[in-house]
Amino acid sequence: MPDTVTTHQAEDDARNAAILIYVNGKLLPRAEATISVYDSGFMLGDGVWEGLRLYNGRWAFLDEHIARLFEAAKAIDLKIGLDPAGVIAALEDTRAANGMQTDAHARLMLTRGVKTRPFQHPGLSRSGPTFVIIMEHSRPSLPRPIRLATVPHLRGLPMTQDPKLNSHSKLNCILACIAAEKAGADEALMLDVHGFVNTTNACNFFIVRKGAVWTSTGDYCMNGITRAKVIELCRANGIPVYERNFSLVDTYGADEAFLTGTFGAQTPVGEIDGRVIGTGRLGPMTERIRDLYGALIASDGRPT
Ligand SMILES: Cc1ncc(COP(=O)(O)O)c(C=O)c1O
Repeated sequence: MPDTVTTHQAEDDARNAAILIYVNGKLLPRAEATISVYDSGFMLGDGVWEGLRLYNGRWAFLDEHIARLFEAAKAIDLKIGLDPAGVIAALEDTRAANGMQTDAHARLMLTRGVKTRPFQHPGLSRSGPTFVIIMEHSRPSLPRPIRLATVPHLRGLPMTQDPKLNSHSKLNCILACIAAEKAGADEALMLDVHGFVNTTNACNFFIVRKGAVWTSTGDYCMNGITRAKVIELCRANGIPVYERNFSLVDTYGADEAFLTGTFGAQTPVGEIDGRVIGTGRLGPMTERIRDLYGALIASDGRPT
């Protein structure tokens, strides 16, 4: 058995075979939840998405996620056809139909819709957006800290495909992840165009050095909601935190490294490019931040 771990690994849950999936206002069993082969998302990766997590009956940081989705849709000039309340109603209908109360993850996907012909021009997508919500029972479960490898794929400049956009097409990140796997790691650590350490293919990246928490400037990476919450929590709890440029030298020599994302909250990193980071296990600062984040979620987003 290959020792494969991913940041989006969850406990097996047999209930996921029977989930209902939201497709353009209908709630359909998995096997019937299909879209056209002419869909802009399938054909061209033309769409945006958002990932949310349900804890104790509440979607964590719901307003921030909905705002980011609407901002992304506006950026790609996609009319959602619903207001934020309508999107939240669809999310809640899907949750209710699946009887989910906690430990669920939702992926909201909006594409430019079904095209009239199989070509790129957005004018061929006239039928309005396709809106899908996949909601799964989900408890993150990692057998060990993540191993990362740096890869040749960079986080690009904002005038090409802005890396802040949660675009359907993730090809750059997928190629980065494939390269990391081929190098014997789990996922990719990606550098920015100047060679500074930026982010991973699917999560934001932090290091801990001498009691201080460092992350990239925020340029070239996803404006992660978990990233922002971690920075806020550090500031509120007297933990020095810096958004700055730093290199692989700083990174290999860090005491701890961890990833952030809605799915896994804070994920420890054990190894980067074959160098063990700190003890190679969950470090005390990562654990402290994880506890603070858990308390923030439990308080429904209000700092305690
Ligand atoms: C490339 C990338 N980085 C980071 C994140 C984490 O963002 P968030 O904390 O908002 O889930 C995501 C998730 O959408 C992502 O796709």
